[in-house]
Amino acid sequence: MGITAVGAYAPAQVIPNAHYAAYLDTTDEWIVSRSGICERRHATEGETTSHLGVQAVRDLMDRYPGALDGVDLVLCATSSPDAMFPSTAALIAGQVGLKGAAAMDLSVACSGFLYALSVAQAMVAAGTARRALVIGAEVMSRVVDQQDRNTAILFGDGAGAVVVGPVPAGTGFQSFVLGADSAGGPSLFLRGVCGALPDGTPMGPYLEQNGREVFKFAVRILGDSAEEAMRRAGGRVQDIDWLIPHQANVRIIQAACERFGLPLERAVTNLDRYGNTSAASIPLALAEAVRDGRIQPGQQLLLAGFGGGLSWGAAALRWSGPAAGAGA
Ligand code: UT7
Repeated sequence: MGITAVGAYAPAQVIPNAHYAAYLDTTDEWIVSRSGICERRHATEGETTSHLGVQAVRDLMDRYPGALDGVDLVLCATSSPDAMFPSTAALIAGQVGLKGAAAMDLSVACSGFLYALSVAQAMVAAGTARRALVIGAEVMSRVVDQQDRNTAILFGDGAGAVVVGPVPAGTGFQSFVLGADSAGGPSLFLRGVCGALPDGTPMGPYLEQNGREVFKFAVRILGDSAEEAMRRAGGRVQDIDWLIPHQANVRIIQAACERFGLPLERAVTNLDRYGNTSAASIPLALAEAVRDGRIQPGQQLLLAGFGGGLSWGAAALRWSGPAAGAGA
């Protein structure tokens, strides 16, 4: 079982760091040096998470004609769904010709895409589904307070999509590592429709983050989960050809590369242009590196995400897909 097709989409509206420096107490220099982010994309009014997801799936269909044949399960990882229900997955399915497919959203913050991939892999392996379409899509600009310099500068909007199905022997998924620990939950949270944190933490309408605490967690868990995923795959982190991490902060990715003894060039990074797109960030980075030919069949990939929960997920896989959008 593996990934047979990839696609991505980011809204056209570019928001450079200068946009925030114009009205918040921040600078381009601060944002770039602390996070590595230069600009991000924002959805325009009326553009929702399902719109972005549909565009990512259309990109996949253009690059891999026939890739949706046999897809009977659609999963969408998102923390900014159009609605609680209908699910964003069902809304996307209905617009890309997958009427009747099972569809559900997964809400695991920035780890959501890894969780969704593992669910897809398990459901296809169990015979519950033949093939699965897995999407990570977010309109973070609407759940982040654009007046809060601590968070506004970090997040952006985007979507990525992959198809999970049978692949040639010796390629595909080798291992998954998933976990969550609510002890760190108050460090990163977003209000639900009728919820509150169990410790009584008051919840405003927007995402809130203790950046320093999440940073420490992220550095530790990215290293630990990647090492464990490679160990379960029968290898070592030094075997990784491409690390495709959640795009939260380039300093977190640098720390992981240093720990593994990998050059930073072995990590796919695009947060300089998209910021943190939460559940969309990994498929957005994966699609970009497949498209430009960096990722080639036979290479060892390690996908790793972390975020609210606090949660984490990692997947080791040997890439089986065709190079650079050459068709499925
Ligand atoms: O995807 C979900 C997972 N999330 C993450 O992985 C995010 C993890 N955290 C981070 O990436 C970093 O902690 C940040 C980029 C959020 C912050 O960087 P930092 O180096 O940890 O800065 P800091 O939080 O220690 O803040 C340093 C100072 C503070 O001022 P004081 O307390 O030292 O006076 C902040 O108030 O920088 C201040 N600050 C800012 N200054 C200018 C915070 N935001 C800004 C800003 N511009 N936008």
